[in-house]
Amino acid sequence: MRIGVLTGGGDCPGLNAVIRAAVLKGTSEHGFEFVGFRDGWKGPLEGLTTPLDADVVRHILPLGGTILGSSRTNPVKVDGGVERIRSTMADLGVDALLAIGGEDTLGVATRLHQEGIKVVGAPKTIDNDLSATDYTFGFDTAVQIAVDACDRLATTGASHHRAMIVEVMGRHAGWIALHTGMAASAHVTLVPEQEYDADAVAATVAEVLERGEAPLLVVSEGAIPAGGGVTHTGAELDAFGHVQLKGAGEQLERALLERLPDLPTRVTVLGHLLRGGTPTAYDRILGTRSGLSAVTAIAEGDFGTMAALRGTEVVQVPLAEATGELKTVQPHRLAEIAFVSG
Ligand code: F6P
Repeated sequence: MRIGVLTGGGDCPGLNAVIRAAVLKGTSEHGFEFVGFRDGWKGPLEGLTTPLDADVVRHILPLGGTILGSSRTNPVKVDGGVERIRSTMADLGVDALLAIGGEDTLGVATRLHQEGIKVVGAPKTIDNDLSATDYTFGFDTAVQIAVDACDRLATTGASHHRAMIVEVMGRHAGWIALHTGMAASAHVTLVPEQEYDADAVAATVAEVLERGEAPLLVVSEGAIPAGGGVTHTGAELDAFGHVQLKGAGEQLERALLERLPDLPTRVTVLGHLLRGGTPTAYDRILGTRSGLSAVTAIAEGDFGTMAALRGTEVVQVPLAEATGELKTVQPHRLAEIAFVSG
């Protein structure tokens, strides 16, 4: 059997772990051959390939990014896109696809499965917002980078008696902000799931300053003030209909300065730093186990499924379950962080 592998959407640490594990187990255990499709769905759409075998993947585990490249190409939006993928697969003798990606990439995989193409998924996203799996690899690394940054920002904030605003990724789901805020003992954590009350945030900041501490505020890029909207670049929507977010930290700073005009503040946008570099051990292991499970699913003909973490086990679940709706932060998790903030 010949398997085409692709990584789509925003990259994240741990992608190479999946590719490596799938190829190592697929070749040694099942006698599979692999072909790498370059740059997400653009690869099978345009026939862009790269060699993929055990020698290529053996040493890629600690590498950030993806050796296959990525893109936000959406073949479903391209005229005849699905048929072009089918014919690329036929031309290259590719029997099945392993699609590694988030909601968008796996949404396409779900559609291809419905169209009769053999596909198995592996979920990735630093945002941790995919349903049907407890955690996605990339998330742990992103949170660790953000917490390290917050620890550093807290010390310089304390020296200068400043309010430090830290903006993290998370456009629809505030998991990164929530876990960062909790682990970095932020005074305020703002997520997209709950509009924030700028008066209440300013009151907390004033109290923290009053007791001689430097306020640390963690804000998701998708956080929204009550009655306001997300801040974005105004650039065109991407092929999956997403706006390019920008400015949530600055929006929060402006709101604070309107209420506390003398407040010394600094805004740090962590942005793509959270997606770069080597994966944590947790993400290497989760990525590896996802790759092993996905390749077993292909061997067993369990198509239309994705490798999901359920508790401590990685199991295959229907792709449609993962892509139906986003996994957002639940109210009880917001209640938890409220107890340890302020
Ligand atoms: O992959 C998810 C994500 O990291 C979001 O958190 C973020 O809004 C988006 O990707 C950024 O995308 P891009 O890399 O296209 O700027």
